[in-house]
Amino acid sequence: MLKLFDPRPKRSRGELFDRVGELEALERHVGGGTPLVLVVGVRRIGKTSLLLSFLEGKRGVYVDFRGVETLAELYARLSQGLSSGLDRLRDALAGIRGVSVMGVEVSLKWRGEDSISLAGLMEEVDRRGGAVFVFDEVQGIGRNLAGRVKRALAYAYDNLRNTVVVLSGSEVGMLRGFVGIDDPSSPLYGRYMGEVPVERFSRDLSLEFLRTGFREAGVEAGRDVLEAAVDLFDGIPGWLVHFGLRYLEGSELGDIVEEAVALAAEELRKLGPRERAVLRAIAEGHGTWSSARRRAEELIGATIPQSSMTAIVGRLERLSIVRNYEFLDPIYRRAAARLRP
Ligand SMILES: Nc1ncnc2c1ncn2[C@@H]1O[C@H](COP(=O)(O)OP(=O)(O)OP(=O)(O)O)[C@@H](O)[C@H]1O
Ligand SMILES: [Mg+2]
Repeated sequence: MLKLFDPRPKRSRGELFDRVGELEALERHVGGGTPLVLVVGVRRIGKTSLLLSFLEGKRGVYVDFRGVETLAELYARLSQGLSSGLDRLRDALAGIRGVSVMGVEVSLKWRGEDSISLAGLMEEVDRRGGAVFVFDEVQGIGRNLAGRVKRALAYAYDNLRNTVVVLSGSEVGMLRGFVGIDDPSSPLYGRYMGEVPVERFSRDLSLEFLRTGFREAGVEAGRDVLEAAVDLFDGIPGWLVHFGLRYLEGSELGDIVEEAVALAAEELRKLGPRERAVLRAIAEGHGTWSSARRRAEELIGATIPQSSMTAIVGRLERLSIVRNYEFLDPIYRRAAARLRP
């Protein structure tokens, strides 16, 4: 049975490798009554694993907002989140209008009489003792739902004393924008928020991670290949798991890297042509605004206005792909070097 190299997010402290400091920081915030906490880090760094493990044994609700576009989807995810935390939430949900518990499932009504809003749900749970609400990847939520969620957050911040909201996301700048930390017109502007950054593992910890995973699988992997893998995947646990799994299946390091780069490229191809061109320019080593712009113009065969260039770089930073003309994940740099604008 795979444990450490299980590709799904870890769900308990027993499964989680390290993250002692992050768990402590979360405990401090929640214990100290910080109403809103951000947990941020690049893709595959282990945010979801950290949060699910943190909620183990707590009254908590974990909701994944990735890809949610409609109200029906929003409520489906909420209901999933409540259902999986039901063991500890049963009392907190009893007698709330619009919420019914059927066996092991929580069903929510969002329209008509007896319906319940997100803010209303949080308020009722708060009145019954409160909970930790974890909203993962909320920055990507459909535009017409964003206002609803933001208003619920602002309401919870101001009024609910037993509720802690933890927001998490891989597009760090987008998440900050969603919350409106720097936006005077946002209801949450200027409020105090806790922040827990999730960083990559050190080189030693990454090696330990791989050794532990292989030991569990009863396989001895050579020091050289482990060091090469850690050099390539740079302490990002999601990639280390990908490497471990594939290596156990008999793949060669080169092919495993190729597969990771292909995954990253698939994500980057969703960007617009000018963004792709700028990314490729940065991947080729163009480390300044003007040099990246010149190269990107060459790649697309058209001029890029100054203001557009600045906007593109800003967006790539908010998506946590680059910072100061450097990639945050070496696999994405490799993928970007091959992008066709
Ligand atoms: N601390 C950890 N211990 C063990 N496995 C981990 C740890 N952190 C991450 N992983 C593994 O790495 C992979 C990615 O983790 P996870 O999904 O939690 O990251 P994430 O930051 O939420 O990713 P994404 O940005 O894609 O949502 C999973 O296979 C998970 O099991
Ligand atoms: Mg995640």
